[in-house]
Amino acid sequence: MKLFDVFPLFDLNIVEGKGCYVYDDKGNEYLDLYGGHAVISVGHTHPYYVAKLTEQLNKIGFYSNSVINELQKEVAQKLGEQCGYPDYFLFMVNSGAEANENAIKLASFHNGRKKVLAFRKAFHGRTSATVAATDSPAYLAPVNLNANYVFAPFNDIDFVKKELATGEYSSVIIEGIQGVAGIQIPHDDFLKELRKVCTETGTILILDEIQSGYGRSGKFFAHQYAGIEADLITVAKGIGNGFPMSAVLINPMFKAVYGQLGTTFGGNHLACAAAIAVLDIMKNENLIENAYTVGEFLMQELRKIPQIKEVRGRGLMIGMEFDEPIKEKRSKLLFEEKVFTGATGTHVFRLLPPLCLTIEQAEVFLERFKKVL
Ligand SMILES: Cc1ncc(COP(=O)(O)O)c(C=O)c1O
Repeated sequence: MKLFDVFPLFDLNIVEGKGCYVYDDKGNEYLDLYGGHAVISVGHTHPYYVAKLTEQLNKIGFYSNSVINELQKEVAQKLGEQCGYPDYFLFMVNSGAEANENAIKLASFHNGRKKVLAFRKAFHGRTSATVAATDSPAYLAPVNLNANYVFAPFNDIDFVKKELATGEYSSVIIEGIQGVAGIQIPHDDFLKELRKVCTETGTILILDEIQSGYGRSGKFFAHQYAGIEADLITVAKGIGNGFPMSAVLINPMFKAVYGQLGTTFGGNHLACAAAIAVLDIMKNENLIENAYTVGEFLMQELRKIPQIKEVRGRGLMIGMEFDEPIKEKRSKLLFEEKVFTGATGTHVFRLLPPLCLTIEQAEVFLERFKKVL
């Protein structure tokens, strides 16, 4: 059997990782400014993370959600404390799309409404509800076409107010920082107004913090820069530092109903061990503060580079837009300078490194980056 060829691949076989570095099968070392697409939060093969998972695997890796799992309570307890939502409830699933799918459904179960307001250039996943809320026609199969999904211009509060005034919308879903769109930050004032109008119209506010959350922005959640609270928050990527898992954080006003939501794998023992290890490391090593400090340093230095048209970002979620396509520069950076970066569209580099990136490693990146410009 061959692999279904849906991913354009770099001709590289990564076989090891340590901290902010990864290694190929030929022993080459690469500085990882991509974090495997914002997934590696506490660093590759962190010893505490490896020990916690190994220890758990030697006890039990999985049992079903039909029995008590104390590890799930520990995740909820620690996450609630660390993220600033201690009174919310936690529902764990497996991928970002699945978390958003459940959030959209939960909102609709709650208020009985059908419509969803999303934003232009949004990316929320590839399952049926989430791909309908994703502003990319290429990802939509005919079976996903759904007139209940409407896209608002980003940061346009007047458009949002007019739509929500109809009382037809179940939820608004918005990324803490738009990632796939090229690192676009919602204005703090816009988010404040959005919060207000959602409350006034009985519309559920869903914050997709899958890419921007878990400390990446320099706060636990990017929407916390605006000082607002969301009704539902979705997390994935960094939550397990590579172990596939995700979750929905749920305001206490939602009623839990047996059978409405479910999952076989979500919140399993091994996933919880990964999530606990990540939260412990983030706290013990002050990784959120580190993301803020190193991110500020990087953005300040990048803004001095004349070839870059614009630098956008918060913490260690940074976009660098060029006037011309970046494909060649990115490829040189990878194969000649041995640095992994992300990209979005044709003109924007995306930096999503592990949150433990040091100032020294950021300096190494800047030095190598300048060489390919
Ligand atoms: C903001 C956002 N939402 C949802 C998703 C979907 O997550 P997953 O690929 O784990 O389903 C992603 C993935 O890139 C994302 O960046």
